[in-house]
Amino acid sequence: MSKYITTPIYYVNGEAHIGHAYTTFIADTVARYNRLKGEDTFFLTGTDEHGQKIEESAKKAGKPTQEFADEISATFKNLWDEFDISYDKFIRTTDEEHQRGVQKAFEVMYAKGDIYKDFYEGHYCVSCETFFPETQLVDGEFCPDCGRSTNIVKEESYFFRLSNYEDKLLKYYEKHPEFIMPKSRASEVVNFVKGGLRDLSVTRTSFTWGVQMPNSIGDDKHVMYVWLDALLNYVTALGYGNDEKLMKYWPADIHFVGKDILRFHAIYWPAFLMSLDLPLPKHIGAHGWWTRDGEKMSKSKGNVVSPKEVADAYGVENLRYFMLREVPFGQDGDFSQRAFIDRINSELSNDLGNLLNRIIGMSGKYSNFKIDSVDVIKYHSKEIEQMNTILDSLDSFIQKLQPHRYLEELWRLFSIGNGVIQEYEPWVKMKNSKQDEALATVAVVANILAKAAVMLHPVMPKTTNIIADALNFEINNKSYQSLVVDKKLLNTFTIKKVPPLFPRVEEPLMAEAPKAEPNPPKEQKAQVKAANKEDDNLIEIGQFFETSLKVGTVVEAQEVPKSKKLLKLQVDLGEDKPRQVIAGIKEFYSPDELLNTQVCVVANLKPAKLMGMMSEGMLLAAKDEDGLCLVRPEKPKKAGTPIG
Ligand code: MSP
Repeated sequence: MSKYITTPIYYVNGEAHIGHAYTTFIADTVARYNRLKGEDTFFLTGTDEHGQKIEESAKKAGKPTQEFADEISATFKNLWDEFDISYDKFIRTTDEEHQRGVQKAFEVMYAKGDIYKDFYEGHYCVSCETFFPETQLVDGEFCPDCGRSTNIVKEESYFFRLSNYEDKLLKYYEKHPEFIMPKSRASEVVNFVKGGLRDLSVTRTSFTWGVQMPNSIGDDKHVMYVWLDALLNYVTALGYGNDEKLMKYWPADIHFVGKDILRFHAIYWPAFLMSLDLPLPKHIGAHGWWTRDGEKMSKSKGNVVSPKEVADAYGVENLRYFMLREVPFGQDGDFSQRAFIDRINSELSNDLGNLLNRIIGMSGKYSNFKIDSVDVIKYHSKEIEQMNTILDSLDSFIQKLQPHRYLEELWRLFSIGNGVIQEYEPWVKMKNSKQDEALATVAVVANILAKAAVMLHPVMPKTTNIIADALNFEINNKSYQSLVVDKKLLNTFTIKKVPPLFPRVEEPLMAEAPKAEPNPPKEQKAQVKAANKEDDNLIEIGQFFETSLKVGTVVEAQEVPKSKKLLKLQVDLGEDKPRQVIAGIKEFYSPDELLNTQVCVVANLKPAKLMGMMSEGMLLAAKDEDGLCLVRPEKPKKAGTPIG
């Protein structure tokens, strides 16, 4: 089966930052993982170059728009090349083929009666390239998404009959619960559609930097709306409307996007595809936002993390590992050098790097670097079994888009490797003339390292190639089949010495981010205004849906010893396994009262440690002078039912 993986196409109004690198790393990892498994994979990335925003940025830079777009697009492409991103195509929306494909799609939708001409009057945010109804504006003027000033635009426009697709979309979401990942993000999309869809203006006459209308329509004062143009890149990259050979890869397996552009991908895009009679992508994977040291990144604060700067200081593969391991997919993450250094030192350097060094050292001393797996099963069948169970579990974490869990489980292999050395003490065996036992221990660890390197390869391709080189094999689909699927052991071989892979980092290697300015510069004022809105305790509906609330069933309840307040609960949220929730309700409820009852849980809070125990959710409760009571559904609901 073939696989088609995409990143969003990046606007060319500024250079890449860490958020762009994150999406690209995840998509690259999944593409590499599929290739390792032998799947015929096509991986697309590129740049989004049309629209008023780009036109204005070019003007500010004093350059012709195309030249400006060429320059910034090249910075993305060069960076991904430098980072060894394994894309199969880098698309630009200024490519002629793409523009022809967009025109073709427009004609198909028009012929179907899904596009009609009318007038549009509304508040337009140039930065977000979106119209907003007056009710959504902040102080009647500012964009609810970015806080910038909006303009009133009245223009003739072609409209896409989005309203016709409301029911079809809702049915599709219901029939394909795995369409939006993680599932916790689906409710915000479903509720938006249920709130009613208005037809979408898909052309503009107020500027010219966009895909021209098809000749057959003959209305050349219009250009295409940038989101119609941009979303279609996913099929024009495969030749839609031109040479359609690569359309065999459609539908996409997964479009990776940030949560801010989920609506475009989960509502507009499927509606466009339905109109074109094309199948829908299998998954939209929406990730969270990265902050720096807890603060939102912005150019004006000067705290944007440049992926190039981080990669130069710490190594791009370490950065890939950190970003994928640090944050559960879908949740927001924070980039801090401290957290990064901790993971480099403890997980990469200690758990993995030292294990490899120990094996090189021991094999050198005991057997002149020769590794022989002949006695591994005899002495280490227990470890082999444990290792195989872990190897078999890994694929499901990629399918569920949980790279952090994938890496967490993968790291258990290194614990087994380190544990077996600790337990069997090969140096003692050597002293006691039990050389074959000592060598079997060294060999089992070499095998653990080899299999782990294969599975780590999609995340850290170059580093794992060095490990494989030391262990005298190559990472490819053949070794994946034999070492991971067929569970074979390495043949007899001579180990090669390699320099330490992960030198410890003692001090931050980059300058720290400047602290937030006490007086925001002028351009931030609108954002401050938007934030002031919160003082009135009013939020936008989207902000509410950022909190994932779910019905849960308490399947286990225990007191936390030595704690006056805490109970330890296991709460079923309809996921693979119940979540552990540490709740401060012991003074008001006994464990027995809670068992098998239902509760309401905040399901997307960052996990926290309470008295040394992880808590993976928070219960909703109301408290006044009479005490505390839990908020519960009025009637029993299936565990995991979203509340909204
Ligand atoms: N051009 C559109 C996408 C069109 S796809 C058909 C666009 N471009 S963008 O350059 O503004 O953003 C690209 C991606 O970067 C988005 O997925 C967005 O979510 C992501 N990020 C931008 N800032 C981010 C963070 N601070 N953290 C994580 N990702 C963020 O939108």
